[in-house]
Amino acid sequence: MLGHLLHLAGIDSVIVENRSEEHVVERVRAGVLEQGTVDLMRDAGVDERLRREGMRHEGIHVRFAGQRHRVHMAEFTGGRAITIYGQNEVVKDLIAARRTTGRPLYFEASEVSVDDLDTGSPRLRFVHAGDRHDIRCAFIAGCDGFHGVCRQSIPPSHVAVYEREYPFAWLGILAQAAPASDELVYSLSERGFALFSMRSTTVTRLYLQCAPDEDLNEWSDDRIWSELVARLRTDDGWQPNVGAIVQKGVTPMRSFVVEPMHYGRLFLAGDAAHIVPPTGAKGLNLAMADVRRLSTALQAFFATGREAELDEYSARGARRTWRAQRFSWWMTSMLHKQEGDNPFDYRRQLAELDYLVSSTAAMTSLSENYVGTPFD
Ligand code: DHB
Repeated sequence: MLGHLLHLAGIDSVIVENRSEEHVVERVRAGVLEQGTVDLMRDAGVDERLRREGMRHEGIHVRFAGQRHRVHMAEFTGGRAITIYGQNEVVKDLIAARRTTGRPLYFEASEVSVDDLDTGSPRLRFVHAGDRHDIRCAFIAGCDGFHGVCRQSIPPSHVAVYEREYPFAWLGILAQAAPASDELVYSLSERGFALFSMRSTTVTRLYLQCAPDEDLNEWSDDRIWSELVARLRTDDGWQPNVGAIVQKGVTPMRSFVVEPMHYGRLFLAGDAAHIVPPTGAKGLNLAMADVRRLSTALQAFFATGREAELDEYSARGARRTWRAQRFSWWMTSMLHKQEGDNPFDYRRQLAELDYLVSSTAAMTSLSENYVGTPFD
């Protein structure tokens, strides 16, 4: 997305990815786009398929004590909503847009390194198809994820790191089954958390809380379905439709923030700078807000030499990420079962959920954070 926004402003860029195109397009990740992300896709002219295939949701369900409760998010946010559209579909559309510009995009790059970051011409080196590339850049954007080389190239004394790991993970599946509900269902049960989501009118996406080191081999399809049904079923008989499981994986849970989000002429965006636990689906949307802010700042710099926006990039990003960190942590703690919890904790969670679905103030707070604040 950053490459495309820069392209629209007439700014050259080189995109370097160490995975294969097939990997980034096939790998199933989250699928909830905030209104701001949908608007950005539209403004960047890459929403043709999103408009056709995206599923706009104005509400979500919260399930506990055997009942589903709908929160009509649009009603509490002046009509804002979320759109279900897979992150890998977004990536597919952006790759196609990049291709039409003819600007460079390298997959399966290796030996990637960034140097001279605190100079006016930082250096990017990598190997692609046997050729060594050595590029002097005006800026480097570290959009290379939590495990990427960019953040790790910043001298540790220049950044502060804030981190929390969670003692659980999510087991996620993709199933060939028509979604049994029009909207997402977040569930707290005595057996742990479960989430019902979807990707299309024929594909359901589901998650259940598991151990961080969960062995997928111990989860037969039957066991996955019976656990999902036990955690999601409601007293009126609603439960997800069962179908063939076409993909499964375990998602770890972590909260992580690095500040500041830049060092010299290296600017970090997305998971390179911050990770949220998946409850609330903020990860992709935070990354989109980052690159939108970064592209605006770079455009101002190249048009007028002004550095004020670049100087503010990190502080404004930190404000947004901490708000999302607080929200994701809250959703996670409200809906998961923690080791050491006793019946008091479960009753407290039920009371919190009961308050959440019966108070206009609480539903407004959930809704405005869930659909996301407008990008700046
Ligand atoms: C999905 C993922 C999330 O983390 C979430 O909170 C809701 C939905 C999904 O993959 O559909």
